[in-house]
Amino acid sequence: MTARPPAHRGEDRATRRPLRTALLIGATTAVAALTAMFVIPDANAAASTLGAAAAQSGRYFGTAIAAGKLGDSAYTTIAAREFNMVTPENEMKIDATEPQRGQFSFGNADQIYNWATQRGMKVRGHTLAWHSQQPGWMQSLSGSTLRQAMIDHINGVMAHYKGKLAYWDVVNEAFNEDGSRRQSNLQGTGNDWIEVAFRTARAADPSVKLCYNDYNIENWSYAKTQGVYNMIRDFKSRGVPIDCVGLQTHFTGGSSLPGNFQTTLSSFAALGVDVALTEVDVTNASTSQYAGLTQACMNVSRCVGITVWGVRDSDSWRSSESPLLFNGSGQAKAAYSSVLNALNAAGPGPSPSASSSSPAPSTSSSPSASPTPSTGGASKIVGSQSGRCIDVPNSSHNNGTRVQLYDCHGLTNQQWTYTASRQLQVYGSMCLDAAGSGNGSAVQIYSCNGQTNQQWNVNSNGTITGVQSGRCIDVWSTANGAQVQIYDCSGQANQQFRLAAL
Ligand code: G3I
Repeated sequence: MTARPPAHRGEDRATRRPLRTALLIGATTAVAALTAMFVIPDANAAASTLGAAAAQSGRYFGTAIAAGKLGDSAYTTIAAREFNMVTPENEMKIDATEPQRGQFSFGNADQIYNWATQRGMKVRGHTLAWHSQQPGWMQSLSGSTLRQAMIDHINGVMAHYKGKLAYWDVVNEAFNEDGSRRQSNLQGTGNDWIEVAFRTARAADPSVKLCYNDYNIENWSYAKTQGVYNMIRDFKSRGVPIDCVGLQTHFTGGSSLPGNFQTTLSSFAALGVDVALTEVDVTNASTSQYAGLTQACMNVSRCVGITVWGVRDSDSWRSSESPLLFNGSGQAKAAYSSVLNALNAAGPGPSPSASSSSPAPSTSSSPSASPTPSTGGASKIVGSQSGRCIDVPNSSHNNGTRVQLYDCHGLTNQQWTYTASRQLQVYGSMCLDAAGSGNGSAVQIYSCNGQTNQQWNVNSNGTITGVQSGRCIDVWSTANGAQVQIYDCSGQANQQFRLAAL
């Protein structure tokens, strides 16, 4: 029997009409015979599994797999049917793959790799450099010895899987909740350990996409999210090889879906990396949260796929929260339908509503950029409502310092030079910089890098708009210390700023 390739949603039904018409004109018996032989799917038929539904828009839907469960047929039946991407839950971690220094072990990892690829699934490697699940010998190392051990580990594991994996989580969970670096033994080898890991990984296997992976980076306004974002941006600006960011998306243990999740995804994507939801689970499998997180991914063209962290509730690291899409008996839960429906609704190709990583600019007013004002010398940027100036707190020179309103005093941390390339420079080498493109994104200083989130239009209507976002520089209050952000242009006084002589 000939199988017809699955129809894509949105495929032009009219293109099939001539065939159908010809069949109708032909002998009725022939039609009946054909109908019996071929099942012609409706062009708009929804896919019936998670993997197939995600594939319609070029994405994947994956799960974590544990080698120890591959003998459980109830488990493997669901996994093989529903998913088209697999992440080994523990088997590719450092303790599993290099239990003794220099002695690599791939038995369980290969078991999962073979099981997945024999069924046409792809595999995501997890993870090469991590403070946790280190073998004892690595835990006791430090300094240059540990640095070399990390490099050797990456080379040893990546050589084994060279050319075979779709993604590698090169570095996992390297940040604290406050956005600073986690104090691990790896961090103790020097702040550059993460970029060394990525450079090593690229050289070891140029074919695989290299990801940074973390939890609690789903809320755009959370400090940890900003910390990771600033690192990725720094890497992109300096040519450190990185292709993707994995947002673990554990909405368990007290976490839940933030309203700005899509902004987070699109803001990371705007840096020029893929994003993926890599370890999804949700307390009690809330249907609205599962639908919302799926929809957010579908709305961002560079969101390449979703992986749930286990098959059935009983397989979850947080099984008491029943956070997955199948119950312990292997039955699909209500959340399964909400995810499947959201995947099917996305249709073929990246979702048109988010074909651009940047939100559409507001059209509440149509400002035109002024002829370059006050170029050639420094100006202050004065808020019309407050009379206060845009100021770098404490004259900080640190990347990522968010600017504020403060009494105008004309010192260097309030001196901005508007350049011909539309940068607003401070201290000669740093630029006013939008930390994202969504509503509420922080306006900060960052080393000038020529990107569009550091370009601003000073408009004839008194607003200053970000070239990347189209949104207006905006403040929440008129007080000293009021933080500066970008927001949809509203025409209100808190978005009126002018460049003025010092
Ligand atoms: O296999 C041994 C078993 O022989 C032993 O008797 C038992 C005693 O505790 O431990 C078993 O190993 C456990 C292993 O899971 C396999 O079940 C480890 O103790 C346990 O620590 C380990 O937990 C894993 C955890 O990472 C470790 O950090 C979870 O399965 C795994 O789901 C979880 O996955 C992480 C991601 O890698 C990174 N993001 C967070 C996520 C959840 O913590």
